[in-house]
Amino acid sequence: QLAPLPPMTPAFLKTLNTVCQQCYRDFAPDDVELGVREHILQDLESFVKRQFTGARLRLFGSSKNGFGFKQSDLDICMVLDGQETAEGLDCISIIESLARLLRKHPGLRNILPITTAKVPIVKFYHARTGLEGDISLYNTLALHNTRLLASYAAIDLRVKMLCYVTKVFAKLCDIGDASRGSLSSYGFTLMVLFYLQQRNPPVIPVLQEIYDEEKKPEVLVDGWNVYFYDDLDKLVSPSIRQKNLESVGALWLGLLQFYTETFDFREHVISIRQSAALTTFNKQWTSKYIVIEDPFDLNHNLGAGLSRRMTNFIMKAFINGRSVFGTSVKAYPPEYTSPMEFF
Ligand code: GTP
Ligand code: MG
Repeated sequence: QLAPLPPMTPAFLKTLNTVCQQCYRDFAPDDVELGVREHILQDLESFVKRQFTGARLRLFGSSKNGFGFKQSDLDICMVLDGQETAEGLDCISIIESLARLLRKHPGLRNILPITTAKVPIVKFYHARTGLEGDISLYNTLALHNTRLLASYAAIDLRVKMLCYVTKVFAKLCDIGDASRGSLSSYGFTLMVLFYLQQRNPPVIPVLQEIYDEEKKPEVLVDGWNVYFYDDLDKLVSPSIRQKNLESVGALWLGLLQFYTETFDFREHVISIRQSAALTTFNKQWTSKYIVIEDPFDLNHNLGAGLSRRMTNFIMKAFINGRSVFGTSVKAYPPEYTSPMEFF
């Protein structure tokens, strides 16, 4: 059981809010940086077309979902004109020949095909910008979840800010790297969105539950329904947005409290597709402590790869965060330069 937090002072909450806003300003890419990514994409597409005539490349992940960092990788998905799905394609040999082709590109280094992973990819390093990237084939669901995340980001600036703060927090605490056994950025983003939906009053709605027709429309991709309400002009103005007026600082502290004091990890699933509670029992996912359901691929638990040790490590980071950000101190050393340096 956690000791209760001491009372929060308004002055400290204000500082917390400034820190969160500054974090966003420091780390969000500007339009020039986003343009550079599009430019690399165009260049790669025309290069790839030399061999794969009908090839189209599309950016997804944090280059497109609204939560990208200056140094975030380039997540690229390749599809072929006239070919709807990957069915009947030999993805592994396409990835291998794509790798051979990319080795001839003068601007790229460290070409590495990875064909043993669940999603085969070819990795590369873009020398001029120092950006890393990978190309996958027909990663169609990822294109849709990128669009879903981007829609949530567009509803309210606080969504973006909180996702940046959480990603920075995760990197600083060494709990945000799936390739090293912890949780991916995508997993943390889903945690933030779920919390914002559960907040009372909610900061964001459940887009997959809103529809104009009588029945929820069905848009099937790889067998999953990827429908969500994307008429943001209608959403941004009215009621939902107005009700919650908390500051980002208060929401950040609220998030740390939510995941350390309120949310019952043993019983419940972190799921952003519905407002009703979903239990680990419902999903038959009782063997894991942190259970995060992908919004479209309902068989995918983002927490599946976490060991017990890593789970404890992540929970400890949240508990520690709750006490650091939840304990008012009079003043910070004036020399701190990065918003989270005092953590
Ligand atoms: P950063 O690159 O860390 O800034 O964030 P990102 O959102 O781009 O994460 P990452 O490069 O790890 O993943 C790219 C995208 O793949 C995500 O944004 C999702 O759209 C998609 N994705 C779908 N399932 C998974 C999954 O299980 N793990 C990860 N990492 N990504 C997934
Ligand atoms: Mg990425």
